[in-house]
Amino acid sequence: MTAPIPFQPDTTQSDRLELGVCYYPEQWPREKWEDDARRMKELGLAWVRIGEFAWAHMEPRPGELRWEWLDEAIDVLGRAGLKVILGTPTAAPPKWLVDLYPDILPVGENGIVRKFGARRHYCFSSRSYAREAARIVEAMAARYGAHPFVHAWQTDNEYGDHDTIYSYSNEAERAFRLWLAERYGSIEALNTAWGTNFWSMRYGTFDEIDLPNNLVEEPSPTHLVDFIRFSSDQVKNFNRTQVDILRCHAPGRPVTHNFMANNFDFDHYEVGEDIDIASWDVYPMGGLINGRLSEADKERYLRTGDPDQTAFYHDLYRAVGRGRVWVMEQQPGPVNWASHNQAPADGMVRLWTWLAYSHGVDMVSYFRWRQIHSAQEQFHAALLLPNGEPDQGHLEVAQVIAEVDRLPKGERREAAKVALVVDYPSRWASRALPQGRSYQATAIALDWYAALSRLGVDVDIVGQHSDLDAYALVLAPDLLIADAAFVAKLKRSKAKALFGPRSGSKTVEMHIPADLPPGPLADLIDLKVTRVESLPEFHSETVLYGNEMHASRVWRETIRSPETVLARFSGDYRDGAPALVGNDKARYLAAGAQGDFLMKVIGDALDWAGVARLPDLGDLRLARRGALRFAFNYGKGPAEVPAGPDAVFHVGGRMLAPVDVAVWTE
Ligand code: GAL
Repeated sequence: MTAPIPFQPDTTQSDRLELGVCYYPEQWPREKWEDDARRMKELGLAWVRIGEFAWAHMEPRPGELRWEWLDEAIDVLGRAGLKVILGTPTAAPPKWLVDLYPDILPVGENGIVRKFGARRHYCFSSRSYAREAARIVEAMAARYGAHPFVHAWQTDNEYGDHDTIYSYSNEAERAFRLWLAERYGSIEALNTAWGTNFWSMRYGTFDEIDLPNNLVEEPSPTHLVDFIRFSSDQVKNFNRTQVDILRCHAPGRPVTHNFMANNFDFDHYEVGEDIDIASWDVYPMGGLINGRLSEADKERYLRTGDPDQTAFYHDLYRAVGRGRVWVMEQQPGPVNWASHNQAPADGMVRLWTWLAYSHGVDMVSYFRWRQIHSAQEQFHAALLLPNGEPDQGHLEVAQVIAEVDRLPKGERREAAKVALVVDYPSRWASRALPQGRSYQATAIALDWYAALSRLGVDVDIVGQHSDLDAYALVLAPDLLIADAAFVAKLKRSKAKALFGPRSGSKTVEMHIPADLPPGPLADLIDLKVTRVESLPEFHSETVLYGNEMHASRVWRETIRSPETVLARFSGDYRDGAPALVGNDKARYLAAGAQGDFLMKVIGDALDWAGVARLPDLGDLRLARRGALRFAFNYGKGPAEVPAGPDAVFHVGGRMLAPVDVAVWTE
């Protein structure tokens, strides 16, 4: 090593978009490293993430720590002018470690141990793993915490990937019992909360309690939600231990974790509290295949992805990161892990990069530098082909880098006028008591978000803990468990509110509120829900709203309310019953809404709250970052962007080709 370069703190806040890449020096011959680093720098990348799966290289045998290769890799990358993000390697414990401490391995819901041979094979409750993970992170942080080339840290990798939050091991059972004893204090309190007078489920001591798997029928919903809460706390604690170690050895270097789309298995806001920047991994092609759209729409957006899903998660993780969000892994071409792995249209890698920036992301890093020729991900595209030739993603990254220079610098995303509430415990509540298989909270929230996006409205995602002062309208599509404190805050704010069906329908103990749903929301709007029903996929109810008939699906409630009726059910069952009621502060929707019906409900709510909106944008999407205006064309034909006559275009122009991006200021 030559003379160290002094560390410049706070290099993570740039006044312009920065790009990076995920790199695995341990997977490539040493002779390639210099050339790789040089080419990354030449391309214009600023960041490189390494290390997150390299434990077996760092410690090939118990206690035998081998840092030379990592010293060298960091040195090569840093000297080339790249800022290193170092990942802690705990997502992939080595074979010798799990052989030494078999209680590290997680147990699946079926009660079978999940074996070594892939990754994420650890149980968050294993005491051996807690100790061993802390040991390797401590050793790594002590060595590289003050390293001048290491500018940021990532803890672990994708908590929750491949259903790895819940483990049904003996270690988890032990920890769950302690957690319950702490939460409830007495077994009587637990019996009351869980409703164990039902089906003779009473417990005499905390030691009698099992994990909620392999039962004959479903568990008490409180038992299940408590297990999810417990598991979520285990993730928070596991992450927190690493963060504490890193803060000690690497002061001034931000800590991040790379979250995933479509994972609500633990409370991401809670983990977000302990880190400096939330990052997430953007794979829209698989997201489309596994997502909420109909087959016809999946066909339509096959090579662009769902036009709203990626933006939704940018906004969610901006909230999780309390304003600071990165993309740690951006899909650069087709991937390997979905049920089908279609290639994105040429141009989408560029579009996704600008989309991220427009939603407040400051750094986008691509997964990965070079496609690997062996092991599980050999079908996964990269910026380079396996032989080192640039692939399509590389060309698009070069284009983005040229465009970055054309944009005014220093623009930040501002607070939106509209907030959409995403609440993790409410998600767990509808998972524990679905009441109908078509009630999918993730899809419902995304449908509401998509309706706002199609009307050209920027959205902030918020939790119940968030500040609401900036908002004119707060939307809660699936807030099953509403806190009294949140309701009081909403009441004090100037925001108007729209609640979806099931809002306030469960207490924290997963009971029906004493005075019927919507529980604490009755403080904002006077109504009682006296009956709920879930509807089969083939059926729709009819709602008369204004002079138009709309189809309502999935869910219907019977409500009793003195408030103004804005829409009514029409048909042979309870004809004329209220479907949407409201007062000056809040509206409550008693019907599942999608498509035109949802657009109408949300469009009216925007008008009511005085939020400007545009006519339906179809396949065009817009976003704002400071003075910058962005448009993205997800459609198959050209589209005109709604720019004023004085618009100055920095990227693209008034007419946008499919898969194209425009950036302008007015
Ligand atoms: C992510 C993961 C990466 C890689 C990638 C492939 O979920 O963090 O390590 O496996 O998927 O798309």
